[in-house]
Amino acid sequence: MKVKLGVMFGGETVEHEVSIISALQAIQNLNKDKYDVIPIYIGKNKVLYTGDSLLEIDAYKSFEDNRKGVKEVSLCKKEGKYYLQNTTGLIRKDITDVDVVLPIVHGNNVEDGTLAGFLDTIGIPYVGPHVLGAALGQDKVVMKQVMGSSGIPIVDYIWFFDNEYLDDKNKVLKNVKSLGYPVVVKPATLGSSVGITFVKSEKDIEKAIDDAISYDNKIVIEKAVDNLVEVNASVLGNYENQKVSPLEEVMGLDEILSYSDKYLSNAKTKGTGSKGMASTSRIIPARISKELTKKIQDTSKEVFRLLNLSGVCRIDYLIDKKTEKYYVNEPNTIPGSLSFYLWRESGVEYKDLLDEMISIAIKEYKNKSKKTMSFESNILAGFSGSKGTKGLKGAKGTKN
Ligand SMILES: Nc1ncnc2c1ncn2[C@@H]1O[C@H](COP(=O)(O)OP(=O)(O)O)[C@@H](O)[C@H]1O
Ligand SMILES: [Mg+2]
Repeated sequence: MKVKLGVMFGGETVEHEVSIISALQAIQNLNKDKYDVIPIYIGKNKVLYTGDSLLEIDAYKSFEDNRKGVKEVSLCKKEGKYYLQNTTGLIRKDITDVDVVLPIVHGNNVEDGTLAGFLDTIGIPYVGPHVLGAALGQDKVVMKQVMGSSGIPIVDYIWFFDNEYLDDKNKVLKNVKSLGYPVVVKPATLGSSVGITFVKSEKDIEKAIDDAISYDNKIVIEKAVDNLVEVNASVLGNYENQKVSPLEEVMGLDEILSYSDKYLSNAKTKGTGSKGMASTSRIIPARISKELTKKIQDTSKEVFRLLNLSGVCRIDYLIDKKTEKYYVNEPNTIPGSLSFYLWRESGVEYKDLLDEMISIAIKEYKNKSKKTMSFESNILAGFSGSKGTKGLKGAKGTKN
């Protein structure tokens, strides 16, 4: 019997469109002998939709005006199974059942653990990182705190909340000075280079911080890496096993590309590249020494394990090519195009990569189901009326 695979994508995020492209690409490559593919599109309005027309890119060109063949749905559990139910009209009808979800979402409000949390709450098996790994992967400050405390190389940085900056600008500017220019100013939880500025000297810092603050209330300022070479590695697995891909070298970026440089100028090309890099070129394998390649591959597996990731992720590095010092820039917990092009280099076809990710998810779900998650007895059953409230106090007391 075929697996009913719900592919979830979209969401209220600046990377909405990138997610649609990644998802349709994955859907094209899924083995249709094994999977019945059900598109589950999360609109920018946070409504879930399904329908065959969502399998074509044309459906998204004017989605607000034309939703022919598309139904609003909710994902719910009934008698131990999961269903997509229509949510409009008088009668709730089951449109289809769903066995496993494959989330292909990028950015805030979805990739940051919120979607994983929703899927965990209703209990459906899903591919990819769980809440903690996904959340750590989205916050450029907390990820550094976790990695730094485990000896993973990261750049020097400072961070602050917007109110702290607005209350005491001079204190923050002094800290940036101690870090040393040039620096890179970033909103802590966005992606796709939105709100990021490379700042050469003090005269431009306030404008850069103001820009970052317009996107996020948490800001990180990093020391810029000199003689920059950027390489990325993909890791596939979960907490038990990790495999690492060859490295890609991301080419010739003299300056940080803006969101519009990356996507809007390139909207007509169907990018097969990584998220945020659809218009940039890459060299595989990266032109760095064997020793450095090996070190970066080992670090990648370590980061994957440390952040408790699952499925496929891409870990991005900044290298100073003069000193050969390398730093983890960030993990992408659901990378654009699922990094299939890196796996293809080591002989893994996209359809096999997807198969492996789905198998990992099912195995992990079965393992997790064996753990004790709740108790059969219901301690509330004995409580009633005001007596119950007293009892609750007592129950709290017994917890310790
Ligand atoms: N510390 C740094 N030094 C030099 N360049 C950097 C640094 N941090 C980021 N960059 C440049 O900015 C790009 C975007 O930054 P990144 O942190 O990856 O943001 P995003 O999450 O938007 O992809 C990187 O790919 C790199 O080219
Ligand atoms: Mg990046």
